[in-house]
Amino acid sequence: MEFKGSQRHVFIALFYILTAAPAEYILITMEEKLTLLMSREEIAKAVARIAREIERDLSGNTTKPPILIGVLKGAFVFTADLSRELKMPVEVGFVRTTSYGLNDLPSDKANIIQGIEMDISGRDVILVEDIVDRGLTITTLMEHIEERAPASLRICTLLSRPSANDINSDYIGLSITDDSFIVGYGMDYKERYRDLPELYTITPSTCTHNDK
Ligand code: PRP
Repeated sequence: MEFKGSQRHVFIALFYILTAAPAEYILITMEEKLTLLMSREEIAKAVARIAREIERDLSGNTTKPPILIGVLKGAFVFTADLSRELKMPVEVGFVRTTSYGLNDLPSDKANIIQGIEMDISGRDVILVEDIVDRGLTITTLMEHIEERAPASLRICTLLSRPSANDINSDYIGLSITDDSFIVGYGMDYKERYRDLPELYTITPSTCTHNDK
């Protein structure tokens, strides 16, 4: 087939759209804008303050040390830092829950994927969360833990939203007043950013490679 005059231009334009253009579109991807919420120093100060509060409340309280129960995955970094900051013996366990899926939409209930594996009866337990958001996870876990008859149960969270289902956390690093999505220091957006040492708010946005 032979193309002449304007036909040739149409063919060239079509060829560009079907070949060159897709390459350009690959660069126009969903990207996220991160804004610093808490620096490493600010997080360390909050962790230290919470550790002092826990020591004040529980040092020498019982014959057995308190048990920190970290809520995976988001609280893995906070639990590790808090356990090392505490100047008192503690035991550490984990539970694993999920309320957000890969589509980043929260579900109506938290699912316990891995429950308590330790004997916590008669022990002082501190549930360690990265964020109490709508409070579904904590509400579900409080029931799960209270069924196992601990001596006491306290809630410790690095971040808390006031809307969190009337959950009264005993230890709070920072209260968040808006509904921004937060990543870093163990917290994810679609499984990314857990490795960042700081905390950021994240704004998903469409931008081109020129916006970088
Ligand atoms: C997030 C976060 C909290 C929970 C808070 O976990 O880490 O555990 O949601 O939300 P809620 O107060 O509304 O229940 P997620 O379920 O996303 O799992 P992850 O920790 O593995 O990221």
